[in-house]
Amino acid sequence: MKKPILLILSLLAWCGIQAQEIAIDKAKFHLGDDMAWSNPAFDDSSWQTISVTKVWDEQDIRNENGYAWYRINVVIPSSLKTAGDFSDMLVLSLAKIDDVDETYLNGQLVGKTGSFPNSPDGYSSTWDTPRRYVLNISNCPVKWDKMNTIAVRVYNQGNPGGIFGDKVYIRKGTIADFADINISQVKTVKKGKSKKTPSDALQVDLVNKGFSSRSGELTLQMIDIQTGEPTSQTSKKVTVGKKPVTLTVPFSTNEVSRCVAVFTDETTGKSISKSFAPKYILTPPEPENPRYNGPLVYGVRPKSPIIFRMPFSGKRPMTYRVENLPAGLKVDAERGVISGSLENIGTYELTLVAENEKGTARQKFSIKVGNKIALTPPMGWNSWNCWGLSVSQEKVISSAQAIIDKGLADYGYSYINIDDAWEAAERNADGTIATNEKFPDMKGLGEWLHQNGLKFGIYSSPGDRTCGNYLGSIDHEEQDAKTYNDWGIDYLKYDWCGYNKVFTSHNDRSTAAYVRPYLKMEQYLREQPRDIFYSLCQYGMSEVWKWGHAVDANSWRTTGDITDTWESLYDIGFVRQAELYPYAAPGHWNDPDMLIVGKVGWSNNLRDSRLTPDEQYTHISLWSLLAANMLIGCDVSQMDDFTRALLCNNEVNAVHQDVLGTQARPVVVDGDIQLWMRPLADGTHALGIFNVGEQCTNVDLAKYLDRLGLKNLTQVRDLWRQKDLSVSNLNYFVPNHGVKYLKVK
Ligand code: GLA
Repeated sequence: MKKPILLILSLLAWCGIQAQEIAIDKAKFHLGDDMAWSNPAFDDSSWQTISVTKVWDEQDIRNENGYAWYRINVVIPSSLKTAGDFSDMLVLSLAKIDDVDETYLNGQLVGKTGSFPNSPDGYSSTWDTPRRYVLNISNCPVKWDKMNTIAVRVYNQGNPGGIFGDKVYIRKGTIADFADINISQVKTVKKGKSKKTPSDALQVDLVNKGFSSRSGELTLQMIDIQTGEPTSQTSKKVTVGKKPVTLTVPFSTNEVSRCVAVFTDETTGKSISKSFAPKYILTPPEPENPRYNGPLVYGVRPKSPIIFRMPFSGKRPMTYRVENLPAGLKVDAERGVISGSLENIGTYELTLVAENEKGTARQKFSIKVGNKIALTPPMGWNSWNCWGLSVSQEKVISSAQAIIDKGLADYGYSYINIDDAWEAAERNADGTIATNEKFPDMKGLGEWLHQNGLKFGIYSSPGDRTCGNYLGSIDHEEQDAKTYNDWGIDYLKYDWCGYNKVFTSHNDRSTAAYVRPYLKMEQYLREQPRDIFYSLCQYGMSEVWKWGHAVDANSWRTTGDITDTWESLYDIGFVRQAELYPYAAPGHWNDPDMLIVGKVGWSNNLRDSRLTPDEQYTHISLWSLLAANMLIGCDVSQMDDFTRALLCNNEVNAVHQDVLGTQARPVVVDGDIQLWMRPLADGTHALGIFNVGEQCTNVDLAKYLDRLGLKNLTQVRDLWRQKDLSVSNLNYFVPNHGVKYLKVK
């Protein structure tokens, strides 16, 4: 085979002679998939050359849902293996790769991130993960001072795709390649004489990712958030070999704090550090006596089934009854579920009663029979942000059961929504939609949810394919709506995605062209003898908030997909919702996408949300101000106390469910400080003081009162802490990316 001789490669080789690091910005590229392309002897001279610093879509290459290979031919100089701090390591730094890769050096697999579509775990994207493959110099397949081939097999789903983000490097190892510091919050059990009482602690794990052991010092410092100064320090001499080294420090707080862990290598004096923001719980502990935590109103169409689980928290067992129960409805006294239907239009005033050994709670409640449903924004769970395409019936039941067992149903979380990937590969012979093997019994699932007072949601697309490449509803809308009714579906998320094909096949870009597919499904949904919450998902195109109500949608996504980063939360939550408040009202809500707290991952691989605790307080405060769909996106069965406390603060949730249904607007934006306010039915206002900047700060609310239209405050309540605050001192500490969430009168 002819050896490829390329000017660029010689240049790189020349540059590399004395280099500590070789930067690469171009590679040979070919669409398709052939394992022979990993072979260094393969002749790629006819392949095109592309940049590795930007996705292939930005280089006029179209490759949706497909494979492609990059080949980088490069001389690796032996100067990289001599002397240096961590000279037993050679690092291939491949920027980021959208979505999944397998990387070969001279034909040998040296790294892999994400999971290819036909792997046993199913496809999972790692488009945002930096690729850094650390090789052991003594046994890796590198050829020193000769031409080497790095072949990268890439699979991409959707747009865009490929290597992007930064240059590709081959370089020596550093201390950051050698070790990782992980900090976590744990419960430790001290074996005392009598009882074993678990206490809270911070655990620092130092993990060796290199090939030799090192000694040094591992330190954990607590930092005063207001001054930035260390307040305490714990250190330990360590030798980190194959096993991780651990430092555990007692810790417990219900206020914001920070810490930093440092490892200093004895031989080189070099150190690595990691800072960490511990989770802290502000929501006060739940009382044992019954307490009502739900909406005050329920909208239903005449004759449609009513399913309402009365959201009372408190010690179990609890019994329930309803005073003034209209004929046509019944109550499950053990589960607290109201069911049945009402024929006549009108408002029915009821009193919900819950009783346990600690006491009795009574709550006035209205059922409004008329043309409107979703009189307050929906609360529930959706499978997407945790399980992605790996969702199954079992996983849905597990989260639904946990919604009940962990008491989230006692705060009004009621919709259990299956997102994409429940559909079979083909429809039944009669054209009806079928489920795949992961969902053996949709009707049974619906019945089980309803018996427990929960509601059942599903997902489809007006196109031929969903975003996950499953069957959509096009040309089967009527059949699908009937099937949904048969399964007991209460919520449909209808996702544009594959409809793009129909849309781009004509030149009509009028609003009517955007409305058409949604109007079509609406007509069939309304023919069903049950209320189906209609959730539009088309990412805000053609200002959907201006016409969503015209297709009788109950909510519409206002943006593209959210992910668990501050950038995403900031853009979607603050920037993109700022102007949308006029369009939300009882029955029709702006949907800034599902929650990103708890364990998420869009695949079988779940992780803790990457948002800091303060960002999570901001997220939930903002969604409650926005009257946004409150759909939990994590695996509820793995939910920790922190996440539960975030989602189950009755005063924060009461703002979200307020019957006025007015969405907050940013009344004051002063640098990094944003004040979002919404009026509430009782004449008070909910006010979020957000600090979207990188530094903690103090905010004096007094200076903004005029602009807020608030004169004399007679009551200021901290909603997270559920405490009244002074009305004369309005100065508040707000951490970076954090919030002070108030109710003011
Ligand atoms: C789109 C939607 C997501 C999710 C996926 C499913 O990306 O915006 O919320 O439903 O499709 O494939």
